[in-house]
Amino acid sequence: MDELQYDLTVYPTPVLRQVAEPVDAFDEELKGIVKGMLALMHQSEGVGLAGPQVGLKRRIFVMNATGKPEDEITMINPRILEKQGEATVFEEGCLSFPGIYAEVERPDSCTVEYWTVAGERREEGFTGFPSRVIQHEYDHLEGVLLVDRMSRADKLRHKNALAELVEDYRNKKAKAVK
Ligand code: CO
Repeated sequence: MDELQYDLTVYPTPVLRQVAEPVDAFDEELKGIVKGMLALMHQSEGVGLAGPQVGLKRRIFVMNATGKPEDEITMINPRILEKQGEATVFEEGCLSFPGIYAEVERPDSCTVEYWTVAGERREEGFTGFPSRVIQHEYDHLEGVLLVDRMSRADKLRHKNALAELVEDYRNKKAKAVK
């Protein structure tokens, strides 16, 4: 299947709040989805993109923590087996929250079980930035968003920007109905 064309799903679109469902077929359709997600991630200059961010309630995410082609990773049905290491604070952004950045505390390392797009099971440990990207993208599969992870002070700081996203979403929906 050819690469699918996707648009970014932006907060507060309801699919971002839903728990994504496991992928059960490692077929041509899945390959097309992943290709489309990788293309949109690159085009958006993001380091990660999860299924719900393209309107898909599927447990899929793509990532590239360095921008080097060899560091591109696709995780299907990922499961974080363990989080280890010190809690670290780092400023995170999210393609579904354009222009909003906030400090988020997460454990430094994690061990993940996932399946490749070809259906091969992997178990791997990640540290530092890649581990952070995985934990952020995994949150998306559970319907957990940047706005849930930010401090109360950051939420207040971004109050107007968040309200604007809600307003934009309402306007777009109203237009679509007409
Ligand atoms: Co995100």
